[in-house]
Amino acid sequence: MNAPRRTSKLAIVGAGAVGSTLAYAALARGTARTVALMDVDRSKVEAEVLDLRHGGMFVPQAEVIGSDDVEVVRGADVVVVTAGAKQKPGQTRLDLAEATIALTRKILPGLVEVAPDATFLLVTNPVDVVTYAAQKISGLPPERVFGSGTVLDSSRLRAAIAEHCGVAVGNVHAYVGGEHGDSEIALWSSATIAGVPLLDWKSLPGRPPLDAAAREGIARDVVESAYRVIAGKGATNYAVGLAVTRIVEAVLNDEHRVMPVSTRLDDFYGIDDVCLSLPTLVDSRGATTVVPIPLSDSELVGMRASASSVKAVQQRFGL
Ligand code: 2OP
Repeated sequence: MNAPRRTSKLAIVGAGAVGSTLAYAALARGTARTVALMDVDRSKVEAEVLDLRHGGMFVPQAEVIGSDDVEVVRGADVVVVTAGAKQKPGQTRLDLAEATIALTRKILPGLVEVAPDATFLLVTNPVDVVTYAAQKISGLPPERVFGSGTVLDSSRLRAAIAEHCGVAVGNVHAYVGGEHGDSEIALWSSATIAGVPLLDWKSLPGRPPLDAAAREGIARDVVESAYRVIAGKGATNYAVGLAVTRIVEAVLNDEHRVMPVSTRLDDFYGIDDVCLSLPTLVDSRGATTVVPIPLSDSELVGMRASASSVKAVQQRFGL
């Protein structure tokens, strides 16, 4: 493994709910020495920078800069793109494709020009389609352009399993695969609690069984949870901010961490030419290798359905 970088610059494009919460989480955790925010709305980005700087004495030493000029991104090690249309109540993530693809076409070349050595992490929805588009538009090695994928959904899944079973979330290992969206799949067959395969889990005293019906309910809740947050407060921001911070740290610190980020799958059990999430090694080179985890027959069927649904959107927009 490479030594952690001594200086590190995280650039965040889009200072909306997700981008500014990510900046806040990154500062609180000491993720990078420089956090740069860029947004077309100059007064918004300047206000966010001021507010973040005012908390400087309570967090690890870091510089916060921001601008509506792409120059602020120059030399970044990691560029996180959160800019784009906001999902309104009733909209799916895939409904945002047209606006986000157009924006990606507009802003990505300029970002690559000022940060040609950066790892690019796409967060804007529909993240799998946007990641696919960004790989093509940027011309960068594919491992350096990947999406936040189902890292957040997997955290939601783990939290729900932990609550159901009465164990700490850190004792649960479980991934959501496929699209970050309605066709995502809870990968039960590889899930464990404290090393025990989840499908063999015996309930602890006083806890309900984790039978097929309970698993189905949990998986449905995970898919619906973002809709509930959006209906109540207009956007999701805290959990995604933390999830993305953790991905950025895996890159900056060369962690070789397994995370379900969105990368391009080719020749994968009949799935080709589409970006989807599966547990993947993340380190200073980017998202390098999909980890060969076992998938049950029904999980494979789910992955293929997810691939078809995302590909249909790619094709609709000529990608
Ligand atoms: C989320 O899952 C809306 O994609 C966003 O929180």
